[in-house]
Formats: sequence, structure tokens, C-alpha cells
Amino acid sequence: MRTQVAIIGAGPAGLLLSHLLAQGGVESVVLETRSEAYVAARIRAGILEHSSVELLEAVGLGARIRTEGDHHRGIYLQWPGERHHLDFVDLAGRSVWVYGQTEVQKDLIAARAADDQEIHYEVSDVALHEVESDRPYVTFTDKSGSTQRLDCDVIAGCDGSFGPSRHAVPAAKTFERVYPYSWFGILADVAPSTDELIYAWHPNGFALHSMRSATVSRLYLQVPNGTDPESWSDDRIWEELATRLGHGQNGWKLTPGPITDKSVLPMRSYVQTPMRHGNLFLAGDAAHIVPPTGAKGLNLAIADVALLSKALIAQLREKNPALAERYSDDAQRRVWRCTHFSWWMTTMLHTSGDPFDAELQLSQLRWVATSRAGATGLAENYAGLPIGY
Ligand code: FAD
Ligand code: PHB
Repeated sequence: MRTQVAIIGAGPAGLLLSHLLAQGGVESVVLETRSEAYVAARIRAGILEHSSVELLEAVGLGARIRTEGDHHRGIYLQWPGERHHLDFVDLAGRSVWVYGQTEVQKDLIAARAADDQEIHYEVSDVALHEVESDRPYVTFTDKSGSTQRLDCDVIAGCDGSFGPSRHAVPAAKTFERVYPYSWFGILADVAPSTDELIYAWHPNGFALHSMRSATVSRLYLQVPNGTDPESWSDDRIWEELATRLGHGQNGWKLTPGPITDKSVLPMRSYVQTPMRHGNLFLAGDAAHIVPPTGAKGLNLAIADVALLSKALIAQLREKNPALAERYSDDAQRRVWRCTHFSWWMTTMLHTSGDPFDAELQLSQLRWVATSRAGATGLAENYAGLPIGY
């Protein structure tokens, strides 16, 4: 097999890249270890930044965001006894959309199918070869068990943090911070008890009230690393959420409902640089991981491939390598901004048990929630900087 760009991974980064390349007249083949159904059903991120929505709309992927997504002007920040609304539109002139990653993934799968995109699901033994040469190639075992070789001009490693691509960059520099807590996430068949997301600091630990639709809520609790989700009964989960989210505070109520999914997500920050080695380019979680507190993971993957698609179209169609040469530096500016913002949100909102830390966190929360300068910084970062920042 031969193509211009071999894309490893059919997550949001890989499928959006193949979509953007096709629009620019560049051919690709996508390889994915999981099945199409698995990839489409994976429950992950829930918030799209302003510029992610602008980009998806500009490339014909915005229709369902407008009809099924939920436009949010901002978020609530709270701690015991207080809840403050931060209006991003007023503060930063930008906003966000609640639209699950599962929906983004379904839209991408439909768009690629409409274009007859070649995607090989359920492949195994994916290996990258000769990435430093002009003739790199990928070998893999296809779904039927046959060994395949895919020759290409460029390999795009969009295979997340567990894929092989990031290991194919020799002498990469890596930065990592592992946090001493995890998120216990639930999905529940109940109307959200809030119109916009609530980020809550509480002495028992952080809690977040998010949502997926008018009838589905998504909520998270800070828990110790290694927590077994089955060790928490549904009643205990709802009681703890009610405590941390302030049930009864100024008459606000958290309405519980049937829990349909439970999972525990460890939290870490990770950045690998450079994001290019020869004719291998990394994008999305293959190059960086952020803790979910800033809602940046999916948005960073989208921003990476927005840059990468332009760079590859210029390199492969116009024989102009300038953008490809700058890709890693350009992408890393935003990566580090989002890495800082996600770390900052995480450390401001998660409790460590240390009373000094708690007082600093409360002081910072009060300042962010009540000073226009403080609130604007959060709003600008949360609603997201323009692509190319
Ligand atoms: P991925 O979505 O990970 O896609 C990579 C793809 O590559 C996958 O489909 C994988 O199966 C495939 N792959 C792996 N190895 C191979 C291989 N050898 N060959 C071929 N294909 C391979 N972000 C938030 O902002 N909020 C959240 O609440 C949130 N929750 C998350 C929960 C979980 C469990 C995880 C893992 C991530 C979460 N994230 C969240 C982060 C966000 O989902 C990611 O940042 C986003 O999915 C990145 O997209 P991606 O395409 O780069 O990577
Ligand atoms: C989600 O809805 O899953 C979600 C929302 C905001 C976050 C993280 C996750 O910061």
C-alpha cells in the first residue's frame, strides 16, 4: 500500500487530520488498533473551546454542534458558602460549547466515511520504519491477520499516550508531573442540576458538575490514586457530590439519578519535545497529556492538527517545508500555555490535606472570582486562545 500520509490512530487527532488533509488535496490512510464501535463510544472530554468550534464549523463539521451542543457563556467557581459565575463572553469575548468527545468522534467517522477514507480498524503490531528518510513506512497486521506494509511520504503519530509513535523520536526531552489524586467520573441519566459547569473546592476534595445533554449529567470527585470505582456505592457517590457541590447552599439542590458509567482517571501532565523527527510528526496525546481540570486535552489535539495539516499540505503539495520545520515550535507554544493552565486549575482546586495550601487556594479562588483581572485570565485561557497562539 502507498499513501502520502500514514496516520496512526483514529482518535480525534487522527481523524480530523485526515479530514483536513483531504480538504487540502492530500491523501492519507488511517490505522487504528481498536474497533470503530469502540472508538465511537469511548467516554472522554466534554468541552469544546471557541476556536475548536470555529475550526470544526469552517471544515463542515459544525452542524450537530449547533443543534445538539449546548452553548455556555462561562462556568461557576465555588467553595463552601460561595458560588461565583464567571461570564467568559463578558470577560474575554469568547465562549465554550458542551459537546462530548463521543459526538465529535461520530461526526468525524461519518465525514470520513462520506469521503471514502481508507481506515483500517483492529490492526495490531504497528511499527514505524525509516522515519528519518524520505521513504518512511509502517508495518502492521490487519484485521484478517495478514502482514501489511504502508509506504508513505510522512507518518503522523496520532496514537495517544500508549501508542508507538512517541517512542520513535530518539533523544526526545520529556517533562512530567504526576498528581497525588485521581478523578472518579460518573455518567448519570438525570437532567443536570446546573445550567453551566460548577468547579467546586471543598475540604473533602474537588468536585465538578458537568453534563452531556439536557438529560445526561457527568460528574467528578477527587479521590486518592488507586481508588476502585466498585468500592463506592451509588448512594455514597451522590452523598459526597451533594456535600462537595453545596447541596442546600442558598437553596441549590443536586438531583441524583441512575448512574450508567463509573471510571477512575489518574491525573498527570506530560510534554514531549520535539514533536517532529524527520518525517514523523506527533499530534495530540501522543506528544502531551494534561490533567482534565482545564478541559484542554481534546482542544489541544484539535489545535495541533490544525497546524499540522497546513504544514503537511504546504510540504507535500507546494514543496514548501517552512511550516513543517516550524511545526514543533509553533505547536509547543500552545501546549505549554495549556499545560500551565491545566496545572494551575488543578493545583488551585484539589485539596492536599495541608492547611497552608488550603488557605492559599481559598485566597486565590476569592481573587480569581472577584477581581476582573483575575477572572479575565481564567476566562481567556478556558475559552481558549486563537489557533496559532
Ligand atoms: P486519543 O483519543 O487517545 O486517540 C489515539 C488513538 O490511537 C486511539 O483511538 C487509540 O486506540 C489509537 N492507538 C493507540 N495505539 C495504537 C497503535 N499502536 N496503532 C494504531 N492506533 C493506536 N480530556 C478532557 O479535556 N476532559 C476529559 O474529561 C477527559 N477525559 C479523559 C478520559 C480518559 C480515560 C482519557 C484517556 C482521556 C481523557 N481526556 C479528557 C483527554 C482527551 O480525551 C484526549 O486529550 C483526546 O482524546 C486526545 O485525542 P488524540 O486523538 O490525540 O488521542
Ligand atoms: C467533562 O464534561 O467530561 C469535563 C468537563 C470539564 C472538564 C473536564 C471534563 O474540565
